[in-house]
Amino acid sequence: MATTLQLIMLALVGGTLGQANNTDHKQVLTSIVKQLEGGLELHLRTSEDGGNDLVQFLMQEKSSIIISAKQEEVPSRAKIMRHHFFIFDGVHQMQEIRTSLFNTDGFYILALENNTIEDDVLLMEFAADVWLQHGHSRIYYVQLSKKSVLLFNPFLQRLVVVQDSKTYSRIYKDLEGYHLRIYIFDSVYSSVIGDGENKVLSVTGADAKLAKTVARQLNFTADFVWPDDEFFGGRLANGEYSGGVGRAHRGEVDIIFAGFFIKDYLTTHIQFSAAVYMDELCLYVKKAQRIPQSILPLFAVHMDVWLCFLLVGLLGALVWLILRAVNLILGIEGVPDGSRATRISYFGAARRIFVDTWVIWVRVNVGRFPPFHSERIFVASLCLVSVIFGALLESSLATVYIRPLYYRDVNTLRELDESGQPIYIKHPAFKDDLFYGHNSEVYRRLDAKMMLVAEGEERLIEMVSKRGGFAGVTRSASLQLSDIRYVMTKKVHKIPECPKNYHIAYVLPRPSPYLEEVNRIVLRLVAGGIVGLWTGEAKERAKWSIQRFPEYLAELDVGRWKVLTLSDVQLAFYALTIGCLLSAIVCMAEILLGRQRRLHSPK
Ligand SMILES: *[C@@H]1O[C@H](CO)[C@@H](O)[C@H](O)[C@H]1NC(C)=O
Ligand SMILES: *[C@@H]1O[C@H](CO)[C@@H](O)[C@H](O)[C@H]1NC(C)=O
Ligand SMILES: *[C@@H]1O[C@H](CO)[C@@H](O)[C@H](O)[C@H]1NC(C)=O
Repeated sequence: MATTLQLIMLALVGGTLGQANNTDHKQVLTSIVKQLEGGLELHLRTSEDGGNDLVQFLMQEKSSIIISAKQEEVPSRAKIMRHHFFIFDGVHQMQEIRTSLFNTDGFYILALENNTIEDDVLLMEFAADVWLQHGHSRIYYVQLSKKSVLLFNPFLQRLVVVQDSKTYSRIYKDLEGYHLRIYIFDSVYSSVIGDGENKVLSVTGADAKLAKTVARQLNFTADFVWPDDEFFGGRLANGEYSGGVGRAHRGEVDIIFAGFFIKDYLTTHIQFSAAVYMDELCLYVKKAQRIPQSILPLFAVHMDVWLCFLLVGLLGALVWLILRAVNLILGIEGVPDGSRATRISYFGAARRIFVDTWVIWVRVNVGRFPPFHSERIFVASLCLVSVIFGALLESSLATVYIRPLYYRDVNTLRELDESGQPIYIKHPAFKDDLFYGHNSEVYRRLDAKMMLVAEGEERLIEMVSKRGGFAGVTRSASLQLSDIRYVMTKKVHKIPECPKNYHIAYVLPRPSPYLEEVNRIVLRLVAGGIVGLWTGEAKERAKWSIQRFPEYLAELDVGRWKVLTLSDVQLAFYALTIGCLLSAIVCMAEILLGRQRRLHSPK
């Protein structure tokens, strides 16, 4: 602590004394230091180093600085400060700290005071070793005697002179055919074709196309890693990580080109690329039953249309009655028509009007026109309305025969909650993803209904489609891609209200020198709409692939001519049967009643 204070004092005094010469390597360092976000820690050998030209210079350039004199303190400080500066006599001294270099996403500036010809070779070996063994790419080497700043280019296997702060990213723009370990597994937008002996032959899908584009742009050779069964993976109960997350966490792969939800995977050793697309987590249930053919016409239009039909019929009769009453009270002269009707009672007239209204309403010819002008106009307007209603009914009837109708599906999460179905999940991660942390009562109840089940031989969606009785959880895109046949053949129904929406990105170990360049290309592809094109193409292909399965196609009935059969007109015959039965009953009753009356009538 005392040394640190002493050094800060020294810095304040020395700052004015140091004569900064604007040589090239200082300009380079200036631009580099300006780019560094976060603090810089200066690790000095002794307090004399405080007077060093370069140290003075760095103290002027960087505002947030810690100075420490003991080089062993690195591990504890590594967390506080992002970037580190060391100064050494020569390469031999530098080699001693190799093990204490921390591979965070901060930069190291290693300065060498003097160097000989053989030191150049040693420096090269050191740089290559640090890169290969520790994967540490962010080290600037400053040769004070030569006034040069160097970076190691692992792809060309040599040290390059740094021109400006962009040199670092320029190195990672062209990987010169370097082999990167790329991880792709069977996911929504990617699939892997292997030779059966743990070797990936080829990869397909939107993610794979993107991976190939990145590989071409960055000029690297993709070595596809054989996927394990865990796919996405996550943190296990014992603190280890499985699947893709585990591989990135342990640094076993360089880039994972499979879409991960951007969320907390409980490790700081992985990082996400720029978001590539979005997806939702949705629930699905078994599709509701089809409405049987026999009662289909009743469901042709909504209940309210039927109600409206009845109501207008009754109202029409009422209006006509009022008109008649007004006409009679005011004593308006009727329209003379040839037949001089016999006078009938008021009740008889009212009954006549009621029957006539319904006759017009169902578009049957009315026997006699009403005797007043006003009533005739009313009847004409009623005719028009009935034509419109009739057209609506007829067209709806035609439609329901062509397109099968289903009973009402579960369309909201509230309805799902009310239906009382449990929710089966196959990934434990869904438990934290779906309903967790919401205030809503419905969400809380749904959260309690989730059950983790092992997906055995039969997939969950297969079970839902066959037996039903529970809801499943999946990504919305899955229902549009690999599982589209269940949706198209109306076996399962996706609840349109989806509880979660995620951005999806690729995963890299942290730190990774490739992140920025991968992001640059990914963002360009996203902004240019290319990713949208690829994902859209995948969806279209999935829709189209149903054509290869005649058994599904047969179930679909779409795009074919619907031939109406006798079974489609069942309801008409049922109605006729009921009518006949009723009339037969009435007829019998009349015969019986007539006979009784004749028996009892006085002779
Ligand atoms: C700065 O460096 C230049 C050469 O690059 C040299 O000519 C000049 O004398 C130096 N100035 C000081 C103050 O050291
Ligand atoms: C390196 O320079 C220091 C002074 O800066 C000197 O004491 C030391 O002898 C030099 N070492 C070599 C190997 O030249
Ligand atoms: C890509 O890498 C190869 C080495 O594998 C190299 O010869 C070629 O020039 C590089 N291409 C580009 C465009 O830099």
